[in-house]
Amino acid sequence: TRFWIVIPAAGVGKRMGADVPKQYLEVAGKPVLQHTVERLLAVHRVSAVMVALGADDEFWPELPCSREPRVLTATGGKERADSVLNALCALSAHAADDDWVLVHDAARACITPADVERLMEILEDHPVGGILALPVTDTLKEVENGTIKGSPDRSRIWRALTPQMFRYRALKEALESAAKGGLAVTDEASALELAGQSPRVVEGRSDNIKITRPEDLPLAAFYLERQCF
Ligand code: C5P
Repeated sequence: TRFWIVIPAAGVGKRMGADVPKQYLEVAGKPVLQHTVERLLAVHRVSAVMVALGADDEFWPELPCSREPRVLTATGGKERADSVLNALCALSAHAADDDWVLVHDAARACITPADVERLMEILEDHPVGGILALPVTDTLKEVENGTIKGSPDRSRIWRALTPQMFRYRALKEALESAAKGGLAVTDEASALELAGQSPRVVEGRSDNIKITRPEDLPLAAFYLERQCF
């Protein structure tokens, strides 16, 4: 079985409030997406990286990684799950049903190749697959109209990170059936859960942040400059 990477990179980054989509903002000397693709290409067992881009993306051809032989592109869709599905369709010419696909957010530029390799090693023989995740450290509140309704038991709650690693065909079918049912899924594991599967969690690192808001940029720069891989 081979390993493929899918990077949804077709978002507009509304919460960032910049003129340029957040995946193209420069952090630690390079655009966010260049960091992300470089780090995934550093994983030698990866056959290719399929990047889902916005339909009118004019920034991608400027990135050095766009000319790498192990990098392919697809056109993204309306929601993140649509972008991932389009990328999986574009992979159909290359991937076998049982091949592993690791979906990784463009905005998680601080991913380390070592973490990706660890996820692959731990899940390689797992029947379903799973995700990098982190136990929460804050106390959680369920809130309705500004009022606390309850405090879920935090010892059972993890935050879902990426990569999320599943078999090509199982992932494609799970996302297709979630889309058909009109169910909005914000990660791949949710789609597999809806299909009745039980993915595993593998503990990730707290520096694997999703660059979302302006204040995330200096933090990402701090991590990117200090990590060595
Ligand atoms: O918006 P959010 O931060 O959850 O997006 C996660 C990732 O999904 C980002 O890398 C973004 O570019 C991508 N995305 C996409 N297609 C969309 C929406 C988001 O590829 N329609």
